[in-house]
Amino acid sequence: MKIEDGSIGPISPEITPEEVMFEVNLRPRRLDEFIGQPKIKENLKVFIDAALMRKEPLDHVLFFGPPGLGKTTLATIIANELKVNIKTTSGPVLERPGDLAAILTNLSDRDILFVDEIHRMSRVVEEVLYPAMEDYSLDIIIGQGPNARTLKLNLPRFTLVGATTRTGLLTSPLRDRFGVISRLEFYNGPDLMEIACRSARLLGTEMHDDAAEEIARRSRGTPRIANRILKRIRDFAQVRGDGTIDMKITREALEALDIDKLGLDDVDRQLITVIIEKFGGGPAGIEAIAATLREDRETIEDVYEPYLLQEGLIERTARGRLATRRAYEHLGKAAPKGLF
Ligand SMILES: Nc1ncnc2c1ncn2[C@@H]1O[C@H](COP(=O)(O)OP(=O)(O)OP(=O)(O)O)[C@@H](O)[C@H]1O
Ligand SMILES: [Mg+2]
Repeated sequence: MKIEDGSIGPISPEITPEEVMFEVNLRPRRLDEFIGQPKIKENLKVFIDAALMRKEPLDHVLFFGPPGLGKTTLATIIANELKVNIKTTSGPVLERPGDLAAILTNLSDRDILFVDEIHRMSRVVEEVLYPAMEDYSLDIIIGQGPNARTLKLNLPRFTLVGATTRTGLLTSPLRDRFGVISRLEFYNGPDLMEIACRSARLLGTEMHDDAAEEIARRSRGTPRIANRILKRIRDFAQVRGDGTIDMKITREALEALDIDKLGLDDVDRQLITVIIEKFGGGPAGIEAIAATLREDRETIEDVYEPYLLQEGLIERTARGRLATRRAYEHLGKAAPKGLF
């Protein structure tokens, strides 16, 4: 959630500048430190071991899912497990084909190239990637007009790891070139609790189990949010208590941060409220909702909606978004007669 001074609200899944450093310290480095997502972990372990045994590069991997679930973390873990370098870039940064070509030619054998927000790469840059992914080659055009020739340049064997919020945003030729496509799911309570406990340990903060459980419940299924809430509560514990995170200080902090029982923040609640109050419970078109909230459509679809859908607070239909009975109940609003 963007608040007026341009900073980000307490439980927006998007990363804040101060978190960049903080996350580096809490980020698991090895596969067995990575909590949850058992299917992804198991599969990756097999693919990594196989690549190591054959001394071959790992097949190209695409991670997709809402922000803060561990896509960047998994990319760095893959590099650590394979004991290779990782070069990180992102779709919007690669403006010209030459930008990507320069990175590709500088990789070493079996290195990882991590492209974040890969769906935001321009079409001309994307086309450089096709032969690079397929047979580790680069097509360079020399000269212009009738004299133009294509020169094939061999590249080091590398693994592309791409991250995106939704695979639907990728063109199919690009999507088809990934050998492994993994969808990250929201985390369950026990996994989030374990993540919170691990982070507290790394931060050197004592925390009671029931407090960890409460943090897990209010983290929107997202490790980044669990870590963020933990950090804030730690501040409260330090200033208003003796430094230990217990249930009392946790509740107090959550209240101050405006995080409700389901872990929803202000924007989440506004989104549901708009559907209920402006559109009579729906269906409401995504563009109309976005315009009312003064948010862009993509942010609503990628950042806010996934969790509300998973929690059964809204439904997506062909005609638009609907507020569910649970949404009315959660906000303490009476549903119009006969709606459910
Ligand atoms: N499975 C996990 N176990 C422990 N901590 C995790 C896990 N997944 C994520 N985290 C923590 O959450 C933070 C956010 O994860 P990460 O940056 O990988 O998310 P992301 O999916 O790349 O998000 P974005 O879409 O915003 O780039 C990490 O710094 C890490 O501390
Ligand atoms: Mg990331």
